[in-house]
Amino acid sequence: MTIRFGIIGAAGRGNSFVRAIRANPAAQLTALCDIRADAVAANAAELGIDHVFTDAEAMFDSGQIDAVVIGTPMHFHAPQAIGALAHDLHVLSEVTAGVSIEECRDLVRAARSSGGRYMMAENFTYMKSNVLVRELARAGLFGEVYYGEGAYVHELKALNEGTPWRRRWQTGVNGCTYPTHSLGPVLQWFSETRLRGDRVVAVSAVGSGHHYTDPRGDHYEMEDSVTMMCRMASGGLVQIRVDMLSNRPHHMTHYALQGTEGAYESGDGFQAVPKVWLRSRQAEPQWEPLSELEDEFLPDFWKNPPPEALAAGHGGGDYWEVEDFVRSINEESELAIGIDQAMDMTLPGLASQQSLATGSSWVTVPDPRNWT
Ligand SMILES: NC(=O)c1ccc[n+]([C@@H]2O[C@H](COP(=O)([O-])OP(=O)(O)OC[C@H]3O[C@@H](n4cnc5c(N)ncnc54)[C@H](O)[C@@H]3O)[C@@H](O)[C@H]2O)c1
Repeated sequence: MTIRFGIIGAAGRGNSFVRAIRANPAAQLTALCDIRADAVAANAAELGIDHVFTDAEAMFDSGQIDAVVIGTPMHFHAPQAIGALAHDLHVLSEVTAGVSIEECRDLVRAARSSGGRYMMAENFTYMKSNVLVRELARAGLFGEVYYGEGAYVHELKALNEGTPWRRRWQTGVNGCTYPTHSLGPVLQWFSETRLRGDRVVAVSAVGSGHHYTDPRGDHYEMEDSVTMMCRMASGGLVQIRVDMLSNRPHHMTHYALQGTEGAYESGDGFQAVPKVWLRSRQAEPQWEPLSELEDEFLPDFWKNPPPEALAAGHGGGDYWEVEDFVRSINEESELAIGIDQAMDMTLPGLASQQSLATGSSWVTVPDPRNWT
């Protein structure tokens, strides 16, 4: 079945989904929506799309779409997803799933009662190196996994000044406010090994103590660098750092994984390459480049990627998440990041805000599976 897509936020981040939808033979892009009427009309004209909206509800009501991509600012994700699910539309939502625990609960209830299906578009889980590590974890090559690290270190002060919602929801709150790019892949690695569906049960967050002062002389609420310690249901420990303010060259991501039989450390974008040690390959601990394992362990979809995947943003993640979403909807199979996994990636960051506000106390992370 061909899935007809509409994109909300189509004049911004939503636009980056256009290529992947159009490259997919089982998908058709039929509608665009953005509050910036001129920009979205120009975009639609260029793409030859007839159905253009400035109001998301009007697009949901139009009968022109089966699925919606939500690429709007963070605080619209949950309300717009709930609106789409109420129309039994499928939803592919940008990260994070929501900006408060209360609206996350509403979103979970909407997803459970809808004829549409919900997936969160955590594109970093589709990056080649992250997919390969997941396969190694799935094959049991790290043994019993008990420690992981993820960091999103992306200096975004100019973007914060240019997109005021970021200044409110990402750096206007003290916490790991944008954790899913780091936590998402690590959660999947843990889930493949120790405990199926492993998740964070409690967090304790600490900040660097330094607050950036913006050009108006106002302190950013978020400390420049915030780290949350995550206690896993399996008993393991994961450390997530979010830093969008520190002055430094571009770095973006860092990951690490430690198990009884192996270890992984990602490259940092400067000289170092992703490296792994697996006892099954080398009895004595010694790093080898992660790329050495591609032939044997990389899934087929990443072995021969189409040009569209290589041209897509975020290391191909923007392409593969659409592909996966469309396939799962058509096959009625489990979504890679369904509503429970989306919550498992989002809720720890929201709980970290409460932890920071209470002197780094341990805060329990709700289990969305109990929200019915
Ligand atoms: N996954 C990733 O790698 C990645 C990368 C960049 C941004 N993002 C996420 O994508 C989202 C958008 O980021 P952005 O930088 O494009 O933001 P942005 O401020 O540029 O907004 C995106 C678009 O949404 C439109 N918009 C705003 N409110 C709207 C509404 N109520 N209805 C319809 N359209 C509306 C804006 O006019 C704009 O064109 C954010 O949630 C951000 O976190 C994710």
